[in-house]
Amino acid sequence: MRVLGIESSCDETGVALVDASGDGVPALLAHALHSQISMHQAYGGVVPELASRDHIRRVLPLTREVLASAGLSLADVDVIAYTQGPGLAGALLVGAGVAASLGAALDRPVMGIHHLEGHLLSPFLSADPPEFPFVALLVSGGHTQLMRVDDVGSYELLGETIDDAAGEAFDKSAKLLGLPYPGGPHLSKLAEQGSPEAFALPRPLLHSGKPDFSFAGLKTAVLTQVRKLEAQPGGITERQRADLAASTQAAIVEVLVKKAMLALKETGLKRLVVAGGVGANRQLREQLNAICEKRRIRVHYPELHLCTDNGAMIALAAALRLQRDMATLTRGGGFEVKPRWDLSQLASASQL
Ligand code: KG4
Ligand code: ZN
Repeated sequence: MRVLGIESSCDETGVALVDASGDGVPALLAHALHSQISMHQAYGGVVPELASRDHIRRVLPLTREVLASAGLSLADVDVIAYTQGPGLAGALLVGAGVAASLGAALDRPVMGIHHLEGHLLSPFLSADPPEFPFVALLVSGGHTQLMRVDDVGSYELLGETIDDAAGEAFDKSAKLLGLPYPGGPHLSKLAEQGSPEAFALPRPLLHSGKPDFSFAGLKTAVLTQVRKLEAQPGGITERQRADLAASTQAAIVEVLVKKAMLALKETGLKRLVVAGGVGANRQLREQLNAICEKRRIRVHYPELHLCTDNGAMIALAAALRLQRDMATLTRGGGFEVKPRWDLSQLASASQL
C-alpha cells in the first residue's frame, strides 16, 4: 500500500510517498519540499494569499519529483493523504483540492490528516522510533501542547499555551532583535555567542504546578529590554543582542523542559516524544537529553529535516491509520478543510 502525502498548511509545500505494506513502521520512499521562507521574508511573516498561490505553483512539480525519485508513477499510488487542518484556510484548500482531484482522476481514496498528528508521529520515521504510550511535547509556530499518546488516534491534551506558542515566542523576540523571519533558527544561532544569564527574563506559569504555558509576557519583556538598550548612547551592541537572544532562548527552553518533566511525572510515563519546528532547537535537545538521561526517560525526536513542516509526516500518519483500520477515507472528489481543529477531538476510528 503506497500513500502519497501532501502538506500545504502554511509556508512549506511538502509531498512524500510512503510504503505501508505489512505491519511494520511504514517506509519513506521519497519526499520533496519547497520552503516559501525567502518569499515571505520581505514581509517579516507569512502572507496567506502569497502562500496559497505558491502552493499552487509547487505542488504538482513536487509530486512529479517524488514519483520520479521513487521510480514510480501516479498509477502506483493507492491512497492520497493531505493536511486537512489546522492551518491557513487558502493554503489548506490547495492541498485538499489537488488531493481530491488526483483521487477522482485515479479512482483512489483520499484521506484528510491532522497536521499535529503528522508532527507527533514523525519520530516513527527516525532511526530510533518510539513505542506507545508516550508524552508528546508539540512545539511549533502555532501550537505548544503536551499530550498523552496511547496509540495512533488516542491523544489526551495534558496542557497547552494560554497565549503565544513557543515558536511564536522565538519568532516575535527574533523580530524585535532585528533578525529575519522565521526567527527561531536565527535567534538560536545568535544565542550561541551570548550568555543565557545576562538578562533575567520572565518564565510565566513556571510554578503553576500544571503542564500549561504562557509566552506572551516574554515577548513584552524582550521588547522592554530592546527599547532600553537602544536608548543608550550608541544603541544596542552586538554583544547585548547575542546576550538577549541567549537569555530569551534560555527562558523558553527552561519552561518547555520543566513542563515536559511535569507531564511525565503526572502520567507516570517514561517516554517523551518531541515534535514540531521548535524541536529542532539545539539547546532544547541538549537540555532534554541531559535531564531525561538522569531520570531514565527515553526521548525521541524526528530526524532534523522532518522537524519542520513536510509531506512525509502526513503520508506517515495516513499510513499508520490505514494499518490500524482507523482511516477516514473519502471517494469521489469532495473535500473539506478545517483551519481550526483540536487534536484531542480527533475521531480515532471511522471508516467511510
Ligand atoms: O512545525 P513548524 O515548521 O510549523 C508550524 O506548524 O508552525 O514550526 C515552525 C516554527 C517557527 O516558529 C520556527 O521559528 C521554529 O519552528 N523553529 C525553531 C527552530 N527551527 C524552527 N525555533 C527554535 N530553534 C530552531 N532551531
Ligand atoms: Zn507544523
